[in-house]
Amino acid sequence: MNLSGNTILITGGASGIGLAFAERFLKKGNEVIIVGRREEKLQEAKAKFPQLHTRVCNVANKEDRKELYEWVTSKYPQVNILVNNAGIQQRVNLLNVDQDWDYYQNEIAINVEGPMHLSMLFIPHFKKQKDTAIINVSSGLALMPGVWVPIYSATKAAINSFTVSLRHQLAQTSIEVIEIFPPAVNTDLGGAGLHTFGAPLNDFANSIFQGFENGELEIGYGGTENRLKGSREENLHGAKMAWEGFLKNNPDFIS
Ligand SMILES: NC(=O)c1ccc[n+]([C@@H]2O[C@H](COP(=O)([O-])OP(=O)(O)OC[C@H]3O[C@@H](n4cnc5c(N)ncnc54)[C@H](OP(=O)(O)O)[C@@H]3O)[C@@H](O)[C@H]2O)c1
Repeated sequence: MNLSGNTILITGGASGIGLAFAERFLKKGNEVIIVGRREEKLQEAKAKFPQLHTRVCNVANKEDRKELYEWVTSKYPQVNILVNNAGIQQRVNLLNVDQDWDYYQNEIAINVEGPMHLSMLFIPHFKKQKDTAIINVSSGLALMPGVWVPIYSATKAAINSFTVSLRHQLAQTSIEVIEIFPPAVNTDLGGAGLHTFGAPLNDFANSIFQGFENGELEIGYGGTENRLKGSREENLHGAKMAWEGFLKNNPDFIS
């Protein structure tokens, strides 16, 4: 992937990892379009980086995804990189299912249906161009589930699997398929304050951009680099240890 001269669509680009990527792509001389549900967050991002293009879109919604595709490809027909970054994370106690299914299904729609459908919408457009890429932001929890976020972890495992298939199926095209495996990073994921223990956002984003420059297709950071090389046994053991650690810090979670 060339790191400059692209037109890049980033879902969830108004905050956290998406915005850190948007900032870096802008600095490298790319056109960047960010989308999210909250207009005010998009405007905040634009006030900070006026070159950004913005669009409200809920990637959980099929019609919104189709509209986004039509809008982007008619306004920016040169668009050549899709970053599937939008995501939410919900803690779920499976012993106490107290919400309607819609609440749980929304996490699947955002984290799984969004990236799958957008990839499938953009492939025909990208196929006609040179130097295109689909970048999926999954998670270290795709490889080692976070037991307290069971649906989230399953969505990220699904995206990991889909990305492998996508890369093989697109091998004869000009579309590069890249997957990013963040560890815990200090953003507002899951709600403000829940990831303050995570890696500093700028250090993480700088390292991922180094991975892009190196031409890596599966890019981890810190602990997730080890998970990518870990055996199934090691990753299952890691999941158990992390769950025990979580329960120590959150003794009321399962009650
Ligand atoms: N931070 C971590 O520890 C961590 C670890 C592993 C993986 N990740 C992944 O990294 C990605 C970015 O997360 P983050 O940490 O940067 O969290 P974040 O700051 O909460 O950013 C998530 C972004 O996604 C957008 N978004 C959420 N639902 C959306 C929807 N239905 N349609 C359109 N946009 C939507 C949000 O904007 P609106 O709310 O305005 O829509 C927000 O800008 C996610 O896929 C996450 O799973 C993060």
